[in-house]
Amino acid sequence: MKTRISKINSEQELLGRFAAAAPQIQNGASSLNGMTNGTHHTSHFGKDLERWEVPSDDDAASESEENVKADLAALQEAAQLLRERDIPVAFPTETVYGLGADATRSGAVKGIYAAKGRPSDNPLIVHVCDLTMLRNLLLSTSSSTSSDPIPAVYKPLIDRFWPGPLTILLPNPNSSTQLPPPVLRLAPEVTAGLSTFGCRMPASPLARSLISLTGRPLAAPSANASTRPSPTTAQHVYDDLDGRIELILDGGACQVGVESTVVDGLCTPPVILRPGGISIEELRQCAGWESVEKAYKDQQQHNGSKEVPRAPGMKYKHYSPKAKVILYEQQGGENRKNLVTVEDVTQALNEIGKEEDEKVVVAIVRTRYWPFLGGIKHTAEGQQQNNNSTELNGETAGEGESACEITEIRDAVLTGSEGRMEKAGRILDVNLGKDVGGIARGLFAVLREMDKRGADVIFVEGVAVAGDDKDGRDDGIAAAVMNRLRKAASEIKT
Ligand code: TXA
Ligand code: MG
Repeated sequence: MKTRISKINSEQELLGRFAAAAPQIQNGASSLNGMTNGTHHTSHFGKDLERWEVPSDDDAASESEENVKADLAALQEAAQLLRERDIPVAFPTETVYGLGADATRSGAVKGIYAAKGRPSDNPLIVHVCDLTMLRNLLLSTSSSTSSDPIPAVYKPLIDRFWPGPLTILLPNPNSSTQLPPPVLRLAPEVTAGLSTFGCRMPASPLARSLISLTGRPLAAPSANASTRPSPTTAQHVYDDLDGRIELILDGGACQVGVESTVVDGLCTPPVILRPGGISIEELRQCAGWESVEKAYKDQQQHNGSKEVPRAPGMKYKHYSPKAKVILYEQQGGENRKNLVTVEDVTQALNEIGKEEDEKVVVAIVRTRYWPFLGGIKHTAEGQQQNNNSTELNGETAGEGESACEITEIRDAVLTGSEGRMEKAGRILDVNLGKDVGGIARGLFAVLREMDKRGADVIFVEGVAVAGDDKDGRDDGIAAAVMNRLRKAASEIKT
């Protein structure tokens, strides 16, 4: 199978159009109608949550809008593949690229597991374009109830964070034998036999338009091959899934860079099953979510653990580049930096079985406090090459700051405190920057880039998470960054 990348150029123009096309919701009056038997729910949701409508090509008929027209055609083509075929389509969201399939068709959903090489006992997140579509997943055809099927506990979250990087767990209507089937019936493969399903409305206008044009909710895991770091560009998807899928929609680099936060509000107190784009502090500001708890394991892989994880995805190896990742937790701030030593390098290379004279590739990925090379000294005989890789996190450096910067030194000799030495064929210094948003955007891309450059071992400077940090600052998605790093790491130095 030949894999094509289809570039979408006019997302901003499309956004403008869709916002204009979506009905304005005022004074709590809902525009909901149609598929749910004309049942009307009173909605207090503002924005364009209720209905997401994509204009027809005729609306983009003039010649000055060739771009928009071409993009609509590409989206239409993708939507048709999703409706008619059992091969998933990769598409961008604001978090990471997803591998989408019609969530109502078993054959299509099985196609996801086949392409990813993912175990099928791992449930998938269902993506909807608007609340109308969500209600059609929850409500039965014969239902005439006027109460909103979306559980009340989620209303403050939907109001504040949708569309966006938040996944909520909802009761799976399929698991009830009493109720008639819902208007849109999820394929059993989506939920892996669970009585709940995870759902989110992505912020990406491209993603919402694709879902809307397909006319079906899309089940979509991250579009990486199983166990690999999640993809944040179309090229990442291509690198993993070339030959396994037909089409990748390319909407550029993802804005958030780590996956959505997964929450369960159906239990008391509500819990976070996976940290992500929405932080625990932000959740706690919402009514009913003040005492939300962490229910995720934040350590390394619990391989061989007999414990049944609450979010099934948590039990598998994840986010891993080929190299051995060694994570340095940072709680001490600037004054007590947890640095890399040459002894650490020697030990890591011994553990991966590299002979002393072999040309090894060592990478140092630094964030807030580490100096160049994480504090390791090297003799000046090596050749230094700077290359500023702005494309890694899709950012261009602003004035006086750099995006992601990579410096490569060939034939380096590293020197430790007591004259201890270690040879490295190449040593890579990667500076992800101090801003946690930028770190999140660049993280997966950097892990992938280190694979491409043949890194044997990657030393990573962690970031402090609010609560762990003595400064007590709001670290936003630091929890998500550290959660992914801890899973990718085979060793953690505290
Ligand atoms: O940002 C995201 O969420 C991305 C983009 C593509 O939307 N998607 C994503 O999907 O990360 P995936 O399949 O890689 O991760 C799904 C996570 C897993 O940890 C899974 O266990 C959890 O959500 N999950 C899904 N349904 C669940 C359920 N019913 N109960 C508990 N956990 C669930
Ligand atoms: Mg994933």
